[in-house]
Amino acid sequence: MTASERAGQRLEKLVEALLDVSRIHMGRLELEVAEVELGGVVAEAAAGLADELAQAGSPLDIRGEPVVGRWDPLRMGQVVVNLLANAAKYGAGKPVEIRYGGHDGRAFLQVHDHGIGVAEADQRHIFERFERAVSSQNYGGLGLGLYIVKRIVEAHGGTIRVESTPGAGASFLVDLPRQPSMPVPPPEPVGSP
Ligand SMILES: Nc1ncnc2c1ncn2[C@@H]1O[C@H](COP(=O)(O)OP(=O)(O)OP(=O)(O)O)[C@@H](O)[C@H]1O
Ligand SMILES: [Mg+2]
Repeated sequence: MTASERAGQRLEKLVEALLDVSRIHMGRLELEVAEVELGGVVAEAAAGLADELAQAGSPLDIRGEPVVGRWDPLRMGQVVVNLLANAAKYGAGKPVEIRYGGHDGRAFLQVHDHGIGVAEADQRHIFERFERAVSSQNYGGLGLGLYIVKRIVEAHGGTIRVESTPGAGASFLVDLPRQPSMPVPPPEPVGSP
């Protein structure tokens, strides 16, 4: 890829991220759910990030049990891509592990690295818009990735949290219902026919 192609790609990603933020802001992060196997989403995202991980020097180990749910495959792909991009960026060239699977009505996804980690005091903030716990001189980025990830996970009725020992790595854990919960219908007005 040429330098201008790379610059073009960066710009494209930036525009996509800003569009996502404005959609989220307007409460219009619409999901196109389908029957999806999480392992397939992980494999595709990992293939897309292979160059970035290789450049970082981080081998990726993927392990999981197939788990099917009703999710938006593109949005879930975005979740995995963003978490993997962070693992490549902040993972200090050490191995990265992905684990996924399901139990009962739920699915989990974990992205684990052995890099710089996140200080306890920063752990609450990194999921907010434009919040970063590193200097932009050392690491490029806008601080939007995890904000978008969290909103996508929450739109699916799930949760995300981080566990980290600074200097030893970070683990991002996503928990998702396999079926979106049905919105409760409003009560029938009293006295309607
Ligand atoms: N795997 C990780 N290890 C250590 N710190 C992390 C990790 N992932 C995220 N962080 C911290 O959380 C902050 C927010 O992450 P987020 O992905 O939202 O933004 P970013 O990577 O800085 O920029 P971008 O918008 O390009 O993703 C980062 O700036 C970094 O300080
Ligand atoms: Mg990021």
